[in-house]
Amino acid sequence: MKIQKAVIPAAGLAIRFLPATKTIPKEMLPIVDRPTILYSVEEIIRADIPELILIAGRDKTSVEDYFDTSYELEEILDRAGKMDLLNSIRDIRKRIKVISIRQQEALGLGHAVLCAESVIGNEPFALLLSDQIMIGQPEQPSAIAHLTKLYAETGKAVVSVFQVPTGDVSKYGIVDLKEGGTGPWNVISALEKPEPGVTASRWGLTGRYVFDKEIFPCLRAIKPDTFGEYQLTDAMTLLAERHGILATTLVGDRFDARDKLGFLQANVEMAIRHPEVGAAFQEYLRERCARAF
Ligand code: G1P
Repeated sequence: MKIQKAVIPAAGLAIRFLPATKTIPKEMLPIVDRPTILYSVEEIIRADIPELILIAGRDKTSVEDYFDTSYELEEILDRAGKMDLLNSIRDIRKRIKVISIRQQEALGLGHAVLCAESVIGNEPFALLLSDQIMIGQPEQPSAIAHLTKLYAETGKAVVSVFQVPTGDVSKYGIVDLKEGGTGPWNVISALEKPEPGVTASRWGLTGRYVFDKEIFPCLRAIKPDTFGEYQLTDAMTLLAERHGILATTLVGDRFDARDKLGFLQANVEMAIRHPEVGAAFQEYLRERCARAF
C-alpha cells in the first residue's frame, strides 16, 4: 500500500535552545536559510508522499503559517520580479498538502502520534522527527523513501537505527535486535533513553519510522513513564511482539539538531554545500582553521 501521509510532531518546547526558542519554535530555527523542519519536509516530498500531518502545540502557529500563503510578501516579491525567491516560498505549497492537528497537552511522542489517528485512519504512514537532519546524495532516495520502500516490500513497520557511541546511549531510544547479516533486522524491544548498563544494545533510533494502523492499539495500551509521558518506544515493544518491526541502517549523514552542537554541525555542512555561499564559506573555513582557536 503506497504511503500517502507523513507525520511530523512539532509540539516540543525546545528548552535546550533557550533563549532563542522563547518565541520561535525550534522547527523554525534556520539551518543556513531554511527552517529546520523544511529539511524533513523535503525528504517527504522526495519520497512522493503528498500529505503532511503536523502535530503542533501552542505557540507553534508560525510553523503552520510557514506552509500557508503569505500574500503581502508574495505580492512584493512578484512586483520586484524576484521570481527565484518567490518560487522558493511558493513551491512548497504546491508540492505538499499540510494538515495541522493540536496536541493539547505535552504528553510525549507516543501521545503526539496517537493525536494523528483520526486523520490517518487505516493507512500506513511515515513519521519523521524533524530535529534529525538527514543529508544524502541527491541521486539517492531520501532517508524516509528508503523506509517506505522497505515497508512496500515487506508490509512490516520499519524504523532506522544507527550505532550509538558508547556514552550516548541515554540520549536515544535504543532497540534490541535479532542481529545477523547486514539487515534489515527484526526488532525485539525498544527502550527510551536507558541508563548506562541497562541494555547491551547500541542500536539507537534516528527519528525515521513507518508504521501502519497496528501501532494505534499499542499506543493506547501503554502507560506513561515517571515524567507522565507516553513513549513511542514502549508502543514499539508491543508492536514488535504482536506484528513485528524491521530495523535498518541508512546511508548518508545524520545531524542530531536536538542540541546546539548538532545544530551547528548541520549548519556548517549545509553552508559548505550551499549553491550561493558554499564556495566562499569553504574558503573562510580553510582560512579560519589555519588560525588558532
Ligand atoms: C526522540 C525519541 C528517541 C529518538 C530520538 C532521536 O527523543 O524519543 O527515541 O532516539 O528522538 O531521533 P527526544 O527528541 O525526545 O529527545
